[in-house]
Amino acid sequence: MQEKIKNYILEVEGFIPSTEEHLEEFRLKYLSKKGILSDLFLEMKEASPDQKKDLGKVLNELKTKAEEKYSTFKTSLENNKEEVASDKDLTLPSMRYLGSRHPISIVRSEIVDIFSRIGFTVSEGPEIEDDWHNFSALNFPEEHPARDMQDTFFIQKNPDIALRTHTSSVQVRVMETTPPPIRTISPGRVFRNEAISARAHCIFHQVEGLCIDEDISFADLKQTLLYFAREMFGKDTKIRLRPSYFPFTEPSAEMDISCTLCDGKGCNICKHTGWTEIMGCGMVDPNVLTNCGIDAVKYTGFAFGMGIERITMLKYQINDLRIYFENDVRFLRQFSGIV
Ligand code: PHE
Repeated sequence: MQEKIKNYILEVEGFIPSTEEHLEEFRLKYLSKKGILSDLFLEMKEASPDQKKDLGKVLNELKTKAEEKYSTFKTSLENNKEEVASDKDLTLPSMRYLGSRHPISIVRSEIVDIFSRIGFTVSEGPEIEDDWHNFSALNFPEEHPARDMQDTFFIQKNPDIALRTHTSSVQVRVMETTPPPIRTISPGRVFRNEAISARAHCIFHQVEGLCIDEDISFADLKQTLLYFAREMFGKDTKIRLRPSYFPFTEPSAEMDISCTLCDGKGCNICKHTGWTEIMGCGMVDPNVLTNCGIDAVKYTGFAFGMGIERITMLKYQINDLRIYFENDVRFLRQFSGIV
């Protein structure tokens, strides 16, 4: 009997099942109620007490080996089965959610596209600026309220350095380094020390434009902005220029577009006027040209500046600009697919 058991042990050790059925045959043969092990334990009962001790030892060895073999292959065959059953092609692209661009980025590139079609280049500059580029070169008098601590984030130890409050600072840099003709827009992030509300934030984005050449007139400014408004808000959009004041332009104006929601009939968004303001603009003040080393007798130019948040609000009917900064995916997902 001893011999017989040892042969079974060898057989168990060499057993490698290829399928689940094959493993089941093994279980029935050795481990089931009518299997070899049960038979052998019954047989052992008839042996003499001396023999029982030795037989018990080898028989238990056979039992442990058969059980281990069974459980090891059971789990590995099951895992294989799962892999086959899933039948997934892991190289396919994900179809669940493609992600989306932030609405501010979408509108920023739309603005850039519109102006590049009429020959404007894109220029960028630093977000931390000195007084000269943000204020002085732009003809801000020393005591101008926009320099006040209320509007500007100054660097504590050096009042000459501040976070730029508009991207007109980039235009100063362009004028200082590029001889006319100049036709450029400067998109970028700007900072103002304002209380955060549905209509204002301390960080926002602007696109400012600058065009300098011989014989540039207010008519060129008006036509450029009309082209922009129609491209951005639709071909029936009307524009209106109202006199205004900026230190760096003379004359200066604020531009309204006919309300995109009510087509100029009057609604809550346009406060029943039929118009909404979208940007400031004007003819570059000759002092600014001179400050930047450009011959103010030979050259004239126009400039304009708008907030991307505001344009986006009008374009997508968003009524609170704080939502741009909240990263709420329910908001962001609505822009999926727009590039
Ligand atoms: N820099 C102005 C602002 O930030 C906008 C502007 C640009 C106005 C150019 C006129 C001309 O509000």
